[in-house]
Amino acid sequence: MTHQNEFIKHFKHQPTHIFFSPGRVNLIGEHTDYSGGLVFPMALSLGITGYVSRRDDQLIKVFSTTFESKGILTIALDDLSYKKGFSFGNYVQGVLAILRKAGYSLPAGFNLFMHSTLPASAGLSSSAALEMLLFEIIDTLYDLNLDAVDKVKYAKQVENHYMGVSSGIMDQYAVKFGKKDHAIYLNTHALTFEYAPIDLKRYRLLLMNTNKSRNLEDSDYNERFKSVEIGTNILKKHLDIDVLGDVDEQTFNKVQSTLNDDLLVKRLRHVVSENTRTKQAYNALKNHDLKTFGKMMDGSHQSLKNDFEVSCEELDYLVRANKQLGAIGARMTGAGFGGTMIAIYESKALPPSFKTLKENYQKRFNKPLDIYQAKSADGAKLIKEVTS
Ligand code: GLA
Repeated sequence: MTHQNEFIKHFKHQPTHIFFSPGRVNLIGEHTDYSGGLVFPMALSLGITGYVSRRDDQLIKVFSTTFESKGILTIALDDLSYKKGFSFGNYVQGVLAILRKAGYSLPAGFNLFMHSTLPASAGLSSSAALEMLLFEIIDTLYDLNLDAVDKVKYAKQVENHYMGVSSGIMDQYAVKFGKKDHAIYLNTHALTFEYAPIDLKRYRLLLMNTNKSRNLEDSDYNERFKSVEIGTNILKKHLDIDVLGDVDEQTFNKVQSTLNDDLLVKRLRHVVSENTRTKQAYNALKNHDLKTFGKMMDGSHQSLKNDFEVSCEELDYLVRANKQLGAIGARMTGAGFGGTMIAIYESKALPPSFKTLKENYQKRFNKPLDIYQAKSADGAKLIKEVTS
């Protein structure tokens, strides 16, 4: 059955609009976006397709093929409070609650059927994809005329103020501003960006999902955010800076002793050095120098593993294995603590099969290893209006 027919089965009429919202993979620039640093993500062809229609009452009815056993979730516009165990329904409520706080009220609800090709809790921003999908839907159905950057900022607020995750702006930005065949080199403080062409024919970007899933709400993510904030506030007493992203490595080396705490030094050293690597990686890619790009990826992983300490055994295992198989660069991507590892190969050097790696991984970690070839996509948008 097509997804459009599944919508009809659930809601007894045709959808009026179809939307697509991509996931994202971050090429480099990890844990830098909540201190005004540099990131380099790309929107993925894996994502969420949403089929919708307006309702006349005050309800939102949502079905997701990823959470089929939950059936249709019902949300009432007059009760948007967070509900434990309400699964992805909380994101829907969060989007509506943030919009209401910003002064937008909806005259009525909508029906939504979602199908996702994006693995959930895998470090590929399934939650940002869902948030941006909802903003596009609501904006279109109810003619709110929201500004694109405002939608991104509101989506970040859903994470920060509704879900309780102190995340930065990278995911939502990449999901909204993604462009096929390009990655986005974004300064998360100034919110200025450049598109960098990505040639995924000559080179292949592989996504390897560890299937070690984690929810950022329950992870040490907020703890890392707090450390960076504390460290930055100390540095601000000695340096004239707005954000940690303003500090280069040389300056950091001079002032790091004022942090007076080895763990804080390690945490901030990661962020400062990662900003340098991201800049170098971006320049390398522009110059078609994939070797340097790969080196920056490798360095990023070591820094995330040793200084920021957000990697895990599964990710380290996959990084090592891919390097042995000839990857130009390999690293964890996203928040870490599990999730996905990325590796870049020259197309002609791509191993003919990853069967042995998958078998060894399964044996060692008692979990399957899922491998995807990353393809780029445009950002979240209306795909089609359905005329009956
Ligand atoms: C998660 C957050 C992002 C970013 C990354 C780490 O994906 O949502 O804001 O901090 O982790 O780079």
